[in-house]
Amino acid sequence: MQIAIDGPAGAGKSSVAREVARRLKLAYLDTGAMYRAVTLKALQNNVDITDGDALVLLARTSNMDIQVDEQEGNLIYWGGENITRAIRSPDVNKNVSVVAESPELRKELVSLQRKIAKNAVGIVMEGRDIGTNVLPGADYKFFLTAQVNERARRRWKEIKEKDIQSSYSFEELVEEISTRDRIDQGRADSPLLIAPGAYILDTTPYPFQEVVEKVVTVVREAKTAAENKDSSTCDNEVNSDVL
Ligand code: DC
Repeated sequence: MQIAIDGPAGAGKSSVAREVARRLKLAYLDTGAMYRAVTLKALQNNVDITDGDALVLLARTSNMDIQVDEQEGNLIYWGGENITRAIRSPDVNKNVSVVAESPELRKELVSLQRKIAKNAVGIVMEGRDIGTNVLPGADYKFFLTAQVNERARRRWKEIKEKDIQSSYSFEELVEEISTRDRIDQGRADSPLLIAPGAYILDTTPYPFQEVVEKVVTVVREAKTAAENKDSSTCDNEVNSDVL
C-alpha cells in the first residue's frame, strides 16, 4: 500500500504521516528531510545553492542514510553523522525552497524516493510532489492544508515546546512560511499541486489526532470498498473533504 501526503509547509504532514504509518504498520518517508539535508550540507560547504549539478554531486557523495524512529520519525545521517536536528535550523528553513527548485537535484532525490518505496512493503510518503510526481500511482492521496496563521501558530508552539533555536518573531514566521509556499507553488519543476484524486483535508480547526483518525478512516473505508468491488475510483476527480 502506498499513501501519498502532500501539502504546504507547516500543515502537519510529518506528524500525521508518521502516526498514520505507525497505525497502519507501514514505512514512513519524510521527503522534505532529504531536501533539507542537501541544503544543510551545501550551506556548510559553501556550495552554490542555485547550482543544480553541484547539489547533485553533493547528494551523490554524501552516503545519505534514512532510518525510521518511532519518536523522531526519520533519522537522517550524512556520511555517518546524525543531522536529524540540524536540518531544522532557521538557516535551512530559509534556503531549502531554493534548493528544492533545482530540476537536477529533484531528479536525483525522486529516484531515491521511488527506490525506497519499491523496497518497502508499504509506505506513507509525504512532501510536495508525492501524489503528482513521485508516486502518481499511489493507492491513496491526501492534500493536507491549513490557513497560514494556523500553520505558523503550530510551528511557534513547536519551537517553544522543543526549545528549538529560532530568532523569529511570530510575524516573521508567518512571512517565512508564506515565502516558502510561494516558491514551492511557483517553481517550474513539480510544484506543490493537489494531485488528481486527492482527498483535501483543511486541518485548520482540528487537533492532530482527529486528522490522523480521518486519514486512517478514509484509507480503511476505501480499502474495504475496493475489496468489496462496490466502489469505483475516479483518478481525475478531486474529493474535497472537510473533517
Ligand atoms: O516539508 P518540509 O518543510 O520539510 O520541506 C522542506 C522543503 O523541501 C520545502 O520548502 C519544499 C521542499 N520539498 C519539495 O520540494 N518536494 C518534496 N517532495 C518535499 C519537500
